[in-house]
Amino acid sequence: MLSSTATYLITGASRGLGLEFVRQLLDGGATVIATCRSPSKASQLTELRRSGPGIKNLSIVQLDVTNDDSIATAVKSVSASQSRGIDVLIHNAGVNLLEDDGKLLKSSRESLLASLNTNTVSPVIVTQKFLPLLEKTPSPGNKLIMMMSSNLGFLSESFGVVQSYGVSKAALNKVVVEMALELQPKGIPIVSIHPGWVATDMGSLYGKPPLQPKESIAGILKVISKPSSKLSGNFFAYDGAQLPW
Ligand SMILES: NC(=O)c1ccc[n+]([C@@H]2O[C@H](COP(=O)([O-])OP(=O)(O)OC[C@H]3O[C@@H](n4cnc5c(N)ncnc54)[C@H](OP(=O)(O)O)[C@@H]3O)[C@@H](O)[C@H]2O)c1
Repeated sequence: MLSSTATYLITGASRGLGLEFVRQLLDGGATVIATCRSPSKASQLTELRRSGPGIKNLSIVQLDVTNDDSIATAVKSVSASQSRGIDVLIHNAGVNLLEDDGKLLKSSRESLLASLNTNTVSPVIVTQKFLPLLEKTPSPGNKLIMMMSSNLGFLSESFGVVQSYGVSKAALNKVVVEMALELQPKGIPIVSIHPGWVATDMGSLYGKPPLQPKESIAGILKVISKPSSKLSGNFFAYDGAQLPW
């Protein structure tokens, strides 16, 4: 069971689901390192620093997950401020590029690579670089890496929308299956999560999502609250349902 005072690092915390993770984790008593690519523009996030538990328990760190210099600087900064390491790494940052509606027969090389870079490659590189901080923390059995995936990455089903995004999330799911094996000897579980169709900037691109960030993130935090080797390498929805690949 994750301690309520565990330390979480979240990518893409400026808005949407990442920002809601920060809100709910702070409310629950956790220590939160909220990363985002432009802290000066992340007004809702910086506002959380000004009152309540954010004053003491929130740090904001610049991190563009596609930029190696930014990753290196963020690792240095978090290593200096979190002497006991981190317990949970949440890969939330993601893009859904709308070029040509994501149709694979129309998408450019640049657009396909940009999607894969942010949604698939960057979570791998960010994990590699922050792994020493996860290994350092003295909480065996209570560590976790979470990848924010999507049902649009299902291999068995197509929803007929933003296919290039779906490809990047399907590849991310394969990362979870493979990384689970590599992480097993280190005692660090990794899971893939589908947050539901949620009313954020991204979710609202295609109509009216049925879910609010509050409900999605409350569900996800429940699903990941008891990390274990049994959960590792699997794909879950925000409501706890285990999903097929
Ligand atoms: N909403 C849904 O219905 C839904 C469904 C399934 C999966 N998801 C997944 O959930 C995650 C969060 O999505 P959301 O709905 O909250 O989307 P959103 O409202 O568009 O927010 C995306 C977040 O990712 C950040 N980001 C993008 N590229 C980044 C980079 N290179 N480095 C660091 N941060 C970066 C954005 O930062 P900036 O503010 O700097 O742009 C923003 O904070 C994504 O991985 C998405 O694929 C969402």
